[in-house]
Amino acid sequence: MSNIIEIEGLSKRYGDLVALNDLNLTIDQGAVVGFIGPNGAGKTTTMRILTTLLQPSSGTARVAGYDVAQNPDAVRRAIGYMPDFFGVYDDMKVWEYLDFFAACYDIPPATRHGMIDDLLGLVDLGHKKEQYVEGLSRGMKQRLCLARTLTHDPQLLILDEPASGLDPRARIEMRELLRELQNMGKTIFFSSHILSEIADVCTSIAILEAGNLVAHGNIEQIRRQLRANRTIHVRLLGEREPLVNLLQTSPGVVHLQTDDLPADSLRFDFSGDDVALSELIQTAVSHHIPLVSFREEEHDLEDVFLQLTKGVVN
Ligand SMILES: Nc1ncnc2c1ncn2[C@@H]1O[C@H](COP(=O)(O)OP(=O)(O)OP(=O)(O)O)[C@@H](O)[C@H]1O
Ligand SMILES: [Mg+2]
Repeated sequence: MSNIIEIEGLSKRYGDLVALNDLNLTIDQGAVVGFIGPNGAGKTTTMRILTTLLQPSSGTARVAGYDVAQNPDAVRRAIGYMPDFFGVYDDMKVWEYLDFFAACYDIPPATRHGMIDDLLGLVDLGHKKEQYVEGLSRGMKQRLCLARTLTHDPQLLILDEPASGLDPRARIEMRELLRELQNMGKTIFFSSHILSEIADVCTSIAILEAGNLVAHGNIEQIRRQLRANRTIHVRLLGEREPLVNLLQTSPGVVHLQTDDLPADSLRFDFSGDDVALSELIQTAVSHHIPLVSFREEEHDLEDVFLQLTKGVVN
């Protein structure tokens, strides 16, 4: 699979502020990538560089094989961009709005007619075709804006928080729409604050924190990365001291805690992998330490996100 986005050593400074710090990221053709991060992480900055609207301070970015600085026109043709804030043209009818953007991309009038119907069908606004844009709800305006990004049939969609400000139902509809676009063969790079909400549409996620990429991969890979800091709870028959002594000399055991726990229990963070953890249990058993339970704390996706972005003050 070829890379439709290739970002290498990309940095953006605004005066003293480093908004983006040496970002390296590649995205496969056909992927649906969620770009997650708290406010001010640098998501919009990255997207504006990719869409040729902003110059990086250093580093390079290529979209569909074209360098954003050297070949901006070709990059723009390959991309459909939905910005985080968009003005809509209130005094236009829904179909006129799409017609206008299609005309901007030199699509001939004869083709435009059928294309507008197709796009309105896709975003479920066929019944609003003759209405004024100002009469649409926020969710409808957002879907119309998404339809607008498709007028020139781009291979890559860059969507800056397409679900922001939408109610739960409209968010689900937006997700369905992204799935449909993926099935049509589009590559989608979109930003969000909420990891759990988008995890099931994404083929991979990239997590940005204060200008640094802290994780990139599919959900499973990111969970695995998190297991570097997994927490284990243990309960024993009787006293915990023999196990405490063993753990104090075991590799990978960090943060051994017994305070605020019953006398037969303890908790520790473990930085090893599954093999190392299994060896640790075998060692405990071979020392005749009577384990009753040995369990790993379950992390849900929001925990993953919070752990990866902890320490960020907004
Ligand atoms: N034009 C600008 N001038 C100065 N600083 C800027 C400018 N644009 C962005 N920044 C700063 O760069 C950092 C990254 O901003 P950016 O808008 O890329 O974040 P974001 O991840 O999109 O945040 P949000 O989730 O709030 O949309 C922030 O600290 C922001 O204040
Ligand atoms: Mg933003």
